[in-house]
Amino acid sequence: MTLPRYDRQQTYQWNYDHAPEPMQIDVPKWPGDISFCGFRLQSPLGVPAGPLLNGKWCLYYASLGFDFVTYKTVRSSYRACYELPNLQPVNVGMLQGGEADVPVQNEMAGSWAVSYGMPSSDPNLWRADVKQTRSLLDERKILCVSIVGSVQPDWTLQQLADDYAACALQAIESGADCVEANFSCPNVSTCDGQLYQIPDDCQTVVKTIRERIGRKPLIGKIGRITQPNQMRALLKAIHPYVDALAMTNSIATRVKDEQGNFLFDGQVRGICGKATLDASVEQTALAHKIIKEEGYEVELIGVGGASCLDDVQRYLHAGAAAVHLATAAMQNPSIAIEIKQLAAS
Ligand SMILES: Cc1cc2nc3c(=O)[nH]c(=O)nc-3n(C[C@H](O)[C@H](O)[C@H](O)COP(=O)(O)O)c2cc1C
Repeated sequence: MTLPRYDRQQTYQWNYDHAPEPMQIDVPKWPGDISFCGFRLQSPLGVPAGPLLNGKWCLYYASLGFDFVTYKTVRSSYRACYELPNLQPVNVGMLQGGEADVPVQNEMAGSWAVSYGMPSSDPNLWRADVKQTRSLLDERKILCVSIVGSVQPDWTLQQLADDYAACALQAIESGADCVEANFSCPNVSTCDGQLYQIPDDCQTVVKTIRERIGRKPLIGKIGRITQPNQMRALLKAIHPYVDALAMTNSIATRVKDEQGNFLFDGQVRGICGKATLDASVEQTALAHKIIKEEGYEVELIGVGGASCLDDVQRYLHAGAAAVHLATAAMQNPSIAIEIKQLAAS
């Protein structure tokens, strides 16, 4: 059966408005229960922030065997999406981070440059949608809401932290089981896109969020870190305030067309999909090693490039408690069912 999926030729708004209905499908069981941030989950499989543009998309993917669904990043005010292309296929092998640029290709072969600029519906809209989604979602599944602060030109860091925290509180008050604060978005040029690279600033933000949301699980979403000392410094700064870290958002680089011209006005974009698997598994293992050495209580979500049971197991062996799939799940909405089938056999 061909399942409906995101149409990359159409706009963000079109896809937002054309979320498929949940399916009635028997999903095989994952062998064993999973514990994540105090929740008992039926499998480690989730969808990270991005593909699930609203509650209807969350319910659709939940019906297809994902046990942890993340509502695409929202803000404290409406924000429009960038123009098409939002998803530009690229021709790459494995990326490590630090690549100057990558070439485009027409057909999707596993990796694409993602260019949305973290749009958001108005808070009144997303809050009501989160509330309704939580009420319709199977109670054994987690609804996470991804949030980000919207820095203004004259703001202090504390004002940005307060904006993050206000969004986080609104998400929790609307019924989210946990919140994910996005500290990495290569597609925006403001500092909220790069906070994970500045441990002290990141600490200010997570501390402020923690003060507002109490004990509710807080996940930090981070980007590519290649240096062990950078990972160590970030974990040291933020571990008292976060329950989990999700990595890796994407690998940032510029994108060139067939004529050698830069797309996206020469600005970097996040490459997501297969090309990020090795780097992200390696980064997850690095974070896990430091967490164990230091005795921190931080769980890990492996994200980036996973597209089959082997990839999921690589993340689990690297120390992740859960594994999230964006690109592969958009390409093949029945992927969680297929992975569970194989895991159960
Ligand atoms: C269509 C799309 C939109 C995304 N939007 C967001 C976002 O709003 N917030 C965020 O933290 N990450 C976003 N991401 C990044 C994903 O959460 C994930 O980190 C990345 O895609 C790597 O996973 P993958 O290789 O399985 O795609 C987006 C990714 C895709 C493909």
